[in-house]
Amino acid sequence: MDVGEAIARRRSVRRFDRERPVPRELLLEVLDAGRWAPSSCNLQTWDFVVVEDDATRRALAEEVKSVLIAPVAVFVVYDRELAKEGLANVQSASASIQTMLLKATSVGLASLWVNALGDRDRVRERLGVPDDFEVLALVCLGYPRDEASPPAPQRRPLDEVVHFDRYRGRGGLPKSPDPNDWSLEELALYFKRKLQSGTRYNKPRASFHDPVEAAIERALAPALGGDGEGRRLLDVLSGTGLLTERLHRRWPKAALAVAEVGVDAWFFANRRAGGRVSFVPFPADRADAILEECASADEEVAVARESGGLPVMPRVLPRPPLAEGAFDAATILFRLEGIPRAARGPLLAEVRERLVPGGVLVVAYTSRRSWHRPAYALRRRLGRDSVETSPVPEPNLIGPFEPLAPAEVGELLRGAGFVPVGEERLEPLPDLDVILPRLERSGGLLRLMGKGLRLSNAVLKPFSTLLKPFARTRVVWLKRS
Ligand SMILES: Cc1cc2nc3c(=O)[nH]c(=O)nc-3n(C[C@H](O)[C@H](O)[C@H](O)COP(=O)(O)O)c2cc1C
Repeated sequence: MDVGEAIARRRSVRRFDRERPVPRELLLEVLDAGRWAPSSCNLQTWDFVVVEDDATRRALAEEVKSVLIAPVAVFVVYDRELAKEGLANVQSASASIQTMLLKATSVGLASLWVNALGDRDRVRERLGVPDDFEVLALVCLGYPRDEASPPAPQRRPLDEVVHFDRYRGRGGLPKSPDPNDWSLEELALYFKRKLQSGTRYNKPRASFHDPVEAAIERALAPALGGDGEGRRLLDVLSGTGLLTERLHRRWPKAALAVAEVGVDAWFFANRRAGGRVSFVPFPADRADAILEECASADEEVAVARESGGLPVMPRVLPRPPLAEGAFDAATILFRLEGIPRAARGPLLAEVRERLVPGGVLVVAYTSRRSWHRPAYALRRRLGRDSVETSPVPEPNLIGPFEPLAPAEVGELLRGAGFVPVGEERLEPLPDLDVILPRLERSGGLLRLMGKGLRLSNAVLKPFSTLLKPFARTRVVWLKRS
């Protein structure tokens, strides 16, 4: 296999045949390739710790779950004290990883580069690696469980990534987790980048999702009937499309549309939700700018051909069918808190315009009058004030996000011409099985806090009904006046 083919064929594989061992000579070929990567001053500041033994892997799995997914785990470590300038040591070790991945592909092995290692110091200690070394990454190796390799996640187009002579791209996106520091255009770009990664980051937590979904279903059922036949539903700011997909599954016959700030989110939601979803650009006065990114069907075919058979996604989006007419129901699910405050009123006004008189609007949001608020504040104060971190990871809550004051939400909705009908309050206490493993992995004070939280949760659990006013999640439903 030549190097071009190996580059095109390499995929991050997450399902390995754990029963099929990797022959030692193949493994050594792969590791040998890593040794031939370039390195700063040829210092070769890397080492590869190979773990195949079951008991060792099980012990390591307390920190790194991925160590169990493949028959071979290779930890790539580097000497932290040498070649420090410009992170040359990291660059060199990374080059060795990529070289190993390409070699693995060429000899028919599947691989995965894993950065999520839990507490790296603990992994290092368990591996017996000296403390002047850093564990950079884990490389999983083995034979794939599935015959077909996973589809290639989308890549940014070449002409966006490459700059001749001078950088001509845009500046970076805001780093702030506060949506008021973002414009709608920046949010559209952020989601475009996020969605390029596919649905993998999109694993819903059942303890959260099932009750929320059930509440949304109860609220929507009167407007959408049994299977949605003859009814129209608008999912506003579909984001990752996770809940859009659920709505489609629950009401498969309803005509579904999404309202979004960028067309990529529509493309993604459309693929997740049956391929017949139409599009409402938001805000309406940016519709032309939003749709500019779309190609006609002919252009799209031309672009696919241009890729010369490499497994890449089309680089331009097909023009979506635009939604017309009025909807029986609309949903805004955990998205009001993800757009700037100033955009919320205009969004609700546009949604109202799109609904039939008496149409139903269901809004799910995270309440600021809940345990989410201190968790959020703590996370920001601990120095990880970044849009990529969330105190309680949820696929719906990616991107900038601020929990909302219920009184303000009520006022906003009434001001936009909606009449409250009902409300459900969910998650009065945090799901510690989600939060604590993260805190406990952090060590020190955070670990201690985790223990305190476990205790307080156990004490408060019998009173969870009384705590409902302070529940984290609220699902409210209203009628268009
Ligand atoms: C530095 C780095 C860290 C990564 N860490 C993880 C990880 O922790 N878990 C995981 O499932 N994939 C991880 N990946 C794989 C990426 O998700 C993957 O490369 C990307 O989605 C593109 O898919 P492809 O490799 O199939 O082209 C990592 C990749 C890189 C380069």
